[in-house]
Amino acid sequence: MTGFSINDFAKFKANQQKITMITAYDYTSAQILELSEIDIILVGDSLGMVIQGEQNTINVTLENILYHTKAVRRGAPNSFIVADMPYLSYHFSTSETIKNAAQLICQGGANAVKLEVNHVVAIEHIKALIAAQIPVIGHIGMTPQSVNVFGGFKTQGKTEAQAKHILELAYEVQSAGASAIVLECIPVDLAAEITGKLDIPTIGIGAGNICDGQVLVFHDLLGLTSAPPKFVKKYCDAQQLMMQSVKQFATDVQNGKFPEKQHGFKGII
Ligand code: KIV
Repeated sequence: MTGFSINDFAKFKANQQKITMITAYDYTSAQILELSEIDIILVGDSLGMVIQGEQNTINVTLENILYHTKAVRRGAPNSFIVADMPYLSYHFSTSETIKNAAQLICQGGANAVKLEVNHVVAIEHIKALIAAQIPVIGHIGMTPQSVNVFGGFKTQGKTEAQAKHILELAYEVQSAGASAIVLECIPVDLAAEITGKLDIPTIGIGAGNICDGQVLVFHDLLGLTSAPPKFVKKYCDAQQLMMQSVKQFATDVQNGKFPEKQHGFKGII
């Protein structure tokens, strides 16, 4: 649904209508998502891996997210866009957090920002952002910016202590004023418990189908990434399709079949 607004988070949960969210990093993919009536477009810091070819997301900068958010806004003028706050852009003071988030909203054109939450400071910063009139989406569970603390991209919440910690964080994110919460790579039962207990919607990725919505990385669901995570469903094999077309172009050029007459221009002589 294009035209999704901040008020729709509560409506969707109340009506048990699932929320759809997909990442985009550029004008063209944003256009595809808006035309497909996806509820929310996420300019995720996954761009560090998908666009920049890094091993993780921790080198992504605020400037990177701002640049991509502007492009996505141009491609999807009517969509609800969430911009990710990159690593270390919301870890120091509340004033710096607000200043950084405000850039993504005012210059980038995002409607809300998303923060990964693993520590009490992040909760304080969510409260400050809400006070500054900046809508926030929380992100808990296997938060990729914590890859060095987790010792890799590992499912979280498998032990009783971890599950308790994640449930507590979910409550804190809600009390701090977030509009929704992304649950990444946690056991299905835990995601279901959080979804049942919270008033705000949960948006899952690798967290089962009880969540109030689902998010996937654009390139993963289209089959553009070579080794996507287990939780991804590949809806097409775009890598193969694109390779076939690119190879056909090369063959046509080599055989003199491209360009054809209709691809040329007529001059005066
Ligand atoms: O950066 C991202 O794409 C994300 C999603 C995987 C939720 O945070």
